[in-house]
Amino acid sequence: MSTSPVTVDVRLDRDALRLALERDARAGLLATPKTLASVWFYDDVGSDLFDQITRLDEYYPTRAERALLVEHADEIAVASKAVTLVELGAGTCSKTPILLDALVATGALRHYVAVDVAEATLVEATNSLAKSYPDLDVTATVGDFLHLDGLFAHEGPVLVAFLGGTIGNLEPAARHKFFADLDAQLAHADSFLLGCDLVKDRERLLRAYDDRAGVTAAFNRNVLGVLNRELGANFDVGAFEHVALFDEDHQWIEMRLRATSPQHVTITQLGIELTFEQGEEMRTEISAKFTPEGIAGELDLGGFVMDHQLGAEHGEFLLTLAHPYC
Ligand code: SAH
Ligand code: AVI
Repeated sequence: MSTSPVTVDVRLDRDALRLALERDARAGLLATPKTLASVWFYDDVGSDLFDQITRLDEYYPTRAERALLVEHADEIAVASKAVTLVELGAGTCSKTPILLDALVATGALRHYVAVDVAEATLVEATNSLAKSYPDLDVTATVGDFLHLDGLFAHEGPVLVAFLGGTIGNLEPAARHKFFADLDAQLAHADSFLLGCDLVKDRERLLRAYDDRAGVTAAFNRNVLGVLNRELGANFDVGAFEHVALFDEDHQWIEMRLRATSPQHVTITQLGIELTFEQGEEMRTEISAKFTPEGIAGELDLGGFVMDHQLGAEHGEFLLTLAHPYC
C-alpha cells in the first residue's frame, strides 16, 4: 500500500463548510438584490470547469500570468530567499511548478503549503506535485484564505503567492482586510507575490467572461447545482441564463444569473422560499480589474512595501512582489 507523500491539514471540514454555505446562502439570497459569494463555485465540477476556462482562447489571464512567471520566476526566487512557499487559493496548482523550479534552484526551499477550500482538487494536485519534487515537504491545507491564523507556522523566510487574479473576487473592504491580516501574519523578511488582472479594452474583458463555447456560463450556473445538492434546493438550473457585464463605476466584471421566467424556489435545509421575477438577476461574482498604481496604493495601505511590479508595461496582467514594512 502506498502512502500519500502529502500532509493533509484540514482546517475546514465538511461540517464547517456546510455551516458557512448555509450562512452565506441565507444572507445573500434573502438580500435585495440577491447575491451569492463566489467561493461556492468551486465544488469538484466547478473546479474542473474553472480549469477548462483557463484553457479557453478568450480567457487571457492564465496565459498572461504564466508568461510573467516564466520570465521573472528566477528574480522572484532570488529576491524572496524563500524556505517556505505558501500558495493561497492554489486550486490545481497549474502554475506552481514554475515558481517551485526557480525556488528549488536557489537551494533554500524546503516546504510548500497549498491552501484551498476545494479539498479533492487540492489533494490531487499536491499529490502530483509531491511526486515531481520528492525532496520537498508538501502540505495541502484545506482552509479559508480569509482566515489566515496559523497558516504561516513553517520555517521562514516565507513567500506567500496569491495568483490568478483571485484577489479581484473579493469586495474592496474584504480585500483591504485581507492585505492587513496577511501583513500582520508575516515577518519583515517574508514576501508576498500577488497576481492581479489589469483594466483593459472592454470587449476583450467581456469575451473572457462570456466565451463562445459556454464554459463560463456552465461554471456560473453550476453554483445552483451546488445549492441544490448541499442545501436541498430545487433551482431549475436551465431557467437561469449567464450574464457578464463590466461595471464602470467599480471597475469590475460582474457575473450574474438571470431568471428567464418567474421562479419559485424552496431551499429545504434553510427552511426558506424564494421567488424570482422574470428577468431578475442574482450576482454571483465580481472580478475587479486594477491599475498598477491602484494596487500599489492598496498594498501600501495594507502595510506592504513594493519591491517589484512585473508586467505593468504590457497592460495584460500584473505580478507584484512586496514585503511587510516591519
Ligand atoms: N490560483 C489558481 C486557481 C484560481 S481559481 C490559478 O491561478 O489558476 C480560485 C481558487 O481559489 C479556487 O481553487 C477556489 O477553490 C479557491 N478559493 C476561493 N475562495 C477561497 C477561500 N475563501 N479560501 C480558500 N480558497 C478559496
Ligand atoms: C478565480 N478567478 C480569478 C476567476 C476570475 O477571472 O475572476 C474566476 C472566473 N470567473 C469567471 N471566469 C473565471
